[in-house]
Parts: sequence; structure tokens; C-alpha cells
Amino acid sequence: MAEIKCVGVVGAGQMGSGIAQLAAMNGLDVWLMDADRDALSRATAAISSSEVGDDAMRRLRLTSSLQDLRSADIIVEAILESEDIKKKLFNDLDGIAKSSAILASNTSSISITRLASATQRPSQVIGMHFMNPPPIMKLVEIIRGADTSEETFVATKALAERFGKTTVCSQDYSGFIVNRILMPMINEAFHTLYTGVATKEDIDSGMKHGTNHPMGPLELADLIGLDVCLSIMKVLHQGLGDSKYAPCPLLVQYVDAGRLGRKREIGVYDYRKKPVTPSPRL
Ligand SMILES: NC(=O)c1ccc[n+]([C@@H]2O[C@H](COP(=O)([O-])OP(=O)(O)OC[C@H]3O[C@@H](n4cnc5c(N)ncnc54)[C@H](O)[C@@H]3O)[C@@H](O)[C@H]2O)c1
Repeated sequence: MAEIKCVGVVGAGQMGSGIAQLAAMNGLDVWLMDADRDALSRATAAISSSEVGDDAMRRLRLTSSLQDLRSADIIVEAILESEDIKKKLFNDLDGIAKSSAILASNTSSISITRLASATQRPSQVIGMHFMNPPPIMKLVEIIRGADTSEETFVATKALAERFGKTTVCSQDYSGFIVNRILMPMINEAFHTLYTGVATKEDIDSGMKHGTNHPMGPLELADLIGLDVCLSIMKVLHQGLGDSKYAPCPLLVQYVDAGRLGRKREIGVYDYRKKPVTPSPRL
């Protein structure tokens, strides 16, 4: 496989912009593509405010055309977490990317094997799961689809290491490693709150100080986004077929109410400057 010199990133949201920043800071040419021009403007503002340096900014090019990614040696997809939309993108990328290019997904939970099936190059499709925020978090979880080749795996691992990351390798089963373990813990924290075992503050404080976690599970859920947590629990429940993964009704209710966490200024906790009167369950 040719040396990776140019990285394409699709999706310039919180993950894609961070991945593009990492690649540019590590000496690679980058094309960052998003269908939404406002997202590209926000990404440029976020990356330039992180003081990545002039060289990195020069290596970073923004586009709203997928065609521009045809020179990339690897394309990392970081668009929204929907299997149908990602499959359509992988199919389009397969027609645009050079034949040697790797197509990677930053999905939190969707099957790499199924994304690969939308292409004619399943051996060159892989999961490259960065943690949030990508420039800071140390881990990249690499997921091998059913047909991912050793060559693709080795090249992807080397790229993550070039970014200074620690890698772990997961087989392609729902939730991979990190979310398979983290999300049921967060879901159980919701059950603990739902059944009145303790207050949200005591649940978070108990896990922070009792198990040495930097954040409590409910604060962490607010940071990740309760909608994201719910969608991953649904993938675990459906993909692994065990009722222990059923989403907690309180998590479902919060999402139904639009309490999605920090991004909406209300989730388990209320981050608004003027909180409204809390419901009894708050
Ligand atoms: N947020 C997290 O903590 C986190 C952590 C790890 C992995 N992920 C995964 O990373 C991916 C992106 O998550 P995010 O939080 O950055 O989302 P986001 O909503 O911040 O960004 C998604 C971007 O994709 C763009 N987009 C959507 N469809 C597109 C298309 N067809 N073509 C081009 N651009 C398109 C949107 O305009 C948006 O700018 C998801 O798969 C998510 O599961 C998220």
C-alpha cells in the first residue's frame, strides 16, 4: 500500500474537524469536505483558534465537493450516525477515491462490515474510531470488518500512531470495545437515578471518587449527548439481542423531551444561566 500523504475527511462537525486538524498538524495534506458550508466555516474557525500553526493551516483545504477527495490515500468518514446515509456515502466514495485508497469510518457503533458491503473494495474498508475531542484524547479504536485486509489494518494503525495515539483493535461487533462497556455503565447510571437509588450528584460523585473516573457517568452522558447514548444503546440492544442492553426509560424520556445534554444546555443537569423549576425527578 502506498505511503499515506493525503487524508480526506468527510464531515466537518466536532469529530471531523478535530481529525482534519490532527492530520494537518502531523504533516499530511488534508481535504476536509462537508455538505454544509456553515459547518466548514465553523471548522476553520475552530481549527485556526487552536493555534495549529501556519504550516498546518496551509496543508488544510476545505471543500463542499466530494470529487476533491480523489487524491486522498485514506478517507475518514465522520458524518452523522445513520447507517443508510453512511452506506450511500461509502458507495459514492468508492466511485471517486483512487483504487488504492482506504475508506475508514469514525462510526461509534455501526457495522463496518455492512458499510464495506456498499463498496467494491471491502478489504480496504475499516473502522477508525477517534474519541472526542480527537486532538486531545489518546485512543483510536481500530475495527476490522469481516473482509478488512491485514495491509489496510497495518496502514491505519500506523497512521493513528503517527498522530501520537494509542490503538486498540476490535472485531466488528456492536459497540466495539469502548462503547460496549461504557454505554451499559451509563445506562445503568440512568437506571440508578430512575429507580430512586440516589441523586444524580451522588451517582456521579460515587463513581468519580469510588472508581477513580475523571467524570461521573451522568455528566459524561451530557457531554457525549443523550441522543448519541440512546442511539448506541439501541444498536447494542438490536445487534447483540440481549434485553440487558435495553435503553433505560428515563434516558428515552429525556431524549424525547429534547434534553440532549450540554449541546442543548440541558440533559441530566441544567446548564442554562437561568434554570427553570426542575421536575421532581431532577
Ligand atoms: N460526538 C462524539 O462524541 C463522537 C465520538 C466518536 C465518534 N463519533 C462519531 O463521529 C461521527 C460524527 O459525529 P459528530 O459528533 O462529529 O457529528 P456532527 O453532527 O458534529 O458533524 C457531522 C457533520 O457531517 C456533515 N454531513 C452530514 N451528512 C453529510 C454528507 N452526506 N456528506 C458530507 N457531510 C455530511 C454535517 O453537515 C455535519 O457538519 C458519527 O458517526 C459519530 O457517531 C462521535
